[in-house]
Amino acid sequence: MTQDKKISELSIVEAQEELARLAAILGAANTAYHGNDAPDLSDAEYDRLKRRNSEIEAAFPDLQRKDSPSLQVGAAAADGFGKITHVVPMLSLGNAFEDDDVTAFTARIRNFLGFAASEPIAFTAEPKIDGLSLSLRYENGKLIQAATRGDGAVGENVTANARTISDIPHHIENAPDVLEVRGEVYMSHADFDALNAKQEAAGDKPFANPRNAAAGSLRQLDAAITKARPLKFFAYAWGDLSAPLAETQFGAIERLAELGFSTNPLTKRCASAAELIAHYKQIEEQRATLGYDIDGVVYKVDALDLQSRLGFRATTPRWAIAHKFPAELAWTRLEGIDIQVGRTGALSPVARLQPVTVGGVVVSNATLHNEDYIRGVDSKGQTIRGGKDFRVGDWVQVYRAGDVIPKLADVDLSKRPADAVPYEFPTTCPECGSPAQREEGDSVRYCTGGLICPAQAKEKLKHFVSRKAFDIEGLGAKQIEMFFDDRDLQIKTPADIFTLQTRDQGNLGKLSNRKGWGAQSAENLFKAIEEKRQIPFAKMLFALGIRHLGEVAGKDLAMNFLNWPSLQKALDTSRPAALAHRAADQAEEAERIAADRENRRAKIKETRDRAILDANVPIDAKSAWTALIDIDGIGAVLGLSLSDTLANREERAEIDRLVAALQIIEPDAPSAESPVAGKTVVFTGKLEQMTRDEAKARAEALGAKVSGSVSGKTDILVAGPGAGSKAKKAADLGVLTLDETQWLEMIEGL
Ligand code: IVH
Repeated sequence: MTQDKKISELSIVEAQEELARLAAILGAANTAYHGNDAPDLSDAEYDRLKRRNSEIEAAFPDLQRKDSPSLQVGAAAADGFGKITHVVPMLSLGNAFEDDDVTAFTARIRNFLGFAASEPIAFTAEPKIDGLSLSLRYENGKLIQAATRGDGAVGENVTANARTISDIPHHIENAPDVLEVRGEVYMSHADFDALNAKQEAAGDKPFANPRNAAAGSLRQLDAAITKARPLKFFAYAWGDLSAPLAETQFGAIERLAELGFSTNPLTKRCASAAELIAHYKQIEEQRATLGYDIDGVVYKVDALDLQSRLGFRATTPRWAIAHKFPAELAWTRLEGIDIQVGRTGALSPVARLQPVTVGGVVVSNATLHNEDYIRGVDSKGQTIRGGKDFRVGDWVQVYRAGDVIPKLADVDLSKRPADAVPYEFPTTCPECGSPAQREEGDSVRYCTGGLICPAQAKEKLKHFVSRKAFDIEGLGAKQIEMFFDDRDLQIKTPADIFTLQTRDQGNLGKLSNRKGWGAQSAENLFKAIEEKRQIPFAKMLFALGIRHLGEVAGKDLAMNFLNWPSLQKALDTSRPAALAHRAADQAEEAERIAADRENRRAKIKETRDRAILDANVPIDAKSAWTALIDIDGIGAVLGLSLSDTLANREERAEIDRLVAALQIIEPDAPSAESPVAGKTVVFTGKLEQMTRDEAKARAEALGAKVSGSVSGKTDILVAGPGAGSKAKKAADLGVLTLDETQWLEMIEGL
């Protein structure tokens, strides 16, 4: 770089030329940074050029360009960070709260692996750092990329920011060619206090806790800000790897330490649940003096070959768990009870509290679950809190465990105001006035307004655009609130999102004329919406916000039906059987309540069978229904909810409109290498070389669908010794039947 000319010596023409040059260089650097490329300028050079640009502008205010880098902060913020798809997903951890949960965790692992109680299994135990996770990709020893967790599949590109953290090496030696190091970015208590003092002195809002401060500092579009924040990093895991780090978890962490990463000194190898719990207690005692926040202890199976046998559930590994520290408690006044109407129409009571600090966070509302909970009764009709109810005006105990929504634990009756009255739960929807109904055996009351209820429609939309669903950049809950009620831009249903641009331009750019919006931000939004027109089938299903259809069920349905037309066909065909199923359920419930005879059980079964038969259900409906609810992870409750959704004319029309606007991506085609991909497999009888759970998990990992019953759709029956009626049925249907060894040979090496 040539020496910059002194600003006072620049002619107007020179200043103009230099500003143009700076806009081009910094603009290109921004693009590189926000895309997946590594930035082409060093942080220091970037900062220097940006400063130079501002200084010239200060001296020649009239020369400021429209695309000036000093105006880019806002524009860049709208663009956000570039996205990075994780080669190996970044998962979260299941939780344990009690010692019993830890014993159950180790027992589950033994069961899954088929280990006898006497066979030793080693674990590691280490603090659970309360920060945010980060994945660092090194290729040939060079840090080339850093990504946040995001939704676990796709994270944000924060490479430039991560490079400013001193615990993160830019180069490592003797590492595998490809190595993704994962760990936690956090802020120490001392650094947090100093940062907040600085924030306050500058008139800026202080951070609520070190984790928020760490997250806010890492997720800065301007890496110079991150650099000024004292962030730290502990390495505790890895993602993509070209060669294994070690044979054990403990060994792998030692290797990461040798490579120059900070690893937690309290990591320990343990041989049993009792040793894990003992280490947990030790860490808990030291918690206050560690100097950084931790919210529990993470246990991991030590042997990496066992980790890979155990594998993963949808979002959490089977081989690890987080043992959380107990919740934090505080007392405060219950000032009111509000009713929120969710996307499924559920009426959820929310406690409005006199603000109180619980474990460093100010809490002003808490969930009250449902009307029974307020009355002091649990879902089985048993009393809780000794039957004490919550009343407005009460003195109540709030608790908070980790990230979960605060809850009310207890009430102090000695402080109850004399005029406090029992809470009356509404029987009509507070948002649309429709009746709110509660079904027998259900603790939740639902608004019956469906899509005419604005609260349901709005919440459905918020769910639709949420991070785990469509995740449309620049279209979050706030914008939904705004557009929903806007006369010109009406976004009332998901399909409306995809016609927004056309409708807006029919209104001649209403959006870009709004306060806080401009042509650029409207353009960005339309672009972000277009990007999501292509969507994986599982995500699309989850996004619909159908009751009981969570992320996992979305994946299961997508795997089994591959596309919307075939799922729709299965639901349409099975409708009569679904209705018969419900009729049978209701008859059973009525019988259960009314009957009080000795042979009640037999009677109930008889009634149920009769109801199903009486319904005169066509045979194809029955088999479509059985096939649907037999899918592992689906079941009748979700089956009915899906069936009802499609039977509702308005909802169906809305889904049809949406589907027409989208290009839905089918789950990965079965890989040619896996002879079982896409096949439906049933296991029966005793397996001898692995447990049923492990067999099922492996089959699913190879793309097979595992079902509980044999039908015309079954491709393979794996029958161990003692196989009974299923083997017979498979033989009758001509289904390929293998013993365990044949099955293992078939999938060997996959
Ligand atoms: S292991 C596949 N170890 O906790 C599991 N996670 O609740 C990989 N975390 O997303 C995670 N300390 O951000 C692991 N010692 C530790 C951890 C830890 C904190 C975070 C991490 C993860 C979250 C899950």
